[in-house]
Amino acid sequence: MSLTHRLARRADLDALRTLMDAAIGELQRPFLDDSQIASSRAIMGLDTQLIDDGTYFVVEVDGELAGCGGWSRRATLYGSDQTPGRSPALLDPAQDAARVRAMYTHPHFARRGVGRLILTLCEEAARAEGFTCAELMATLAGEPLYRACGYIPGERLTDDRGGAPVPLVRMSKML
Ligand SMILES: CC(C)(COP(=O)(O)OP(=O)(O)OC[C@H]1O[C@@H](n2cnc3c(N)ncnc32)[C@H](O)[C@@H]1OP(=O)(O)O)[C@@H](O)C(=O)NCCC(=O)NCCS
Repeated sequence: MSLTHRLARRADLDALRTLMDAAIGELQRPFLDDSQIASSRAIMGLDTQLIDDGTYFVVEVDGELAGCGGWSRRATLYGSDQTPGRSPALLDPAQDAARVRAMYTHPHFARRGVGRLILTLCEEAARAEGFTCAELMATLAGEPLYRACGYIPGERLTDDRGGAPVPLVRMSKML
């Protein structure tokens, strides 16, 4: 299976929403109950700022969207366009950790290295802009990927802004 990658475009928005919907609904199922999955939909998803910033990647297999994810030089740690409390403030690479954001793999392509490839692309791009550390807020479904790629778990918390409390863990890695 050959994975190709490119930056996401606004023309991808509908396909990205469909992919995220499938990933949240299916790949979180081993970790969350139905009410937590519903709650997840409110606090996860697409942040179009990343597409406009040119820091959001898609991975394709034979022209079919297999996964997406990105990084950010802005302060928001996680969340979609609809999530309250987002901040577009620019980070300082000398002091702050780059954010890794919104990683989703279509269930048909899970466990084929899509997430790992996107993380590598994000880390290379952040490093090229002078960041020496990366940080993210992981779902329980995301935690095994990030651990496998060298991220260290820190604070554990729950986010109940979507209803049922969704467990999350802050993770970081030196680049
Ligand atoms: C998290 C997610 C993006 C992982 O994507 P993926 O493309 O399947 O990940 P990869 O195939 O690159 O996995 C790389 C390694 O991570 C680990 N890993 C990934 N998913 C795992 C899982 N469900 N269980 C155990 N280990 C896992 C494995 O070590 C894997 O290597 P291996 O398959 O050779 O054993 C995907 O499961 C997803 O979309 N989840 C739902 C949305 C979500 O929660 N996203 C994270 C937001 S923080």
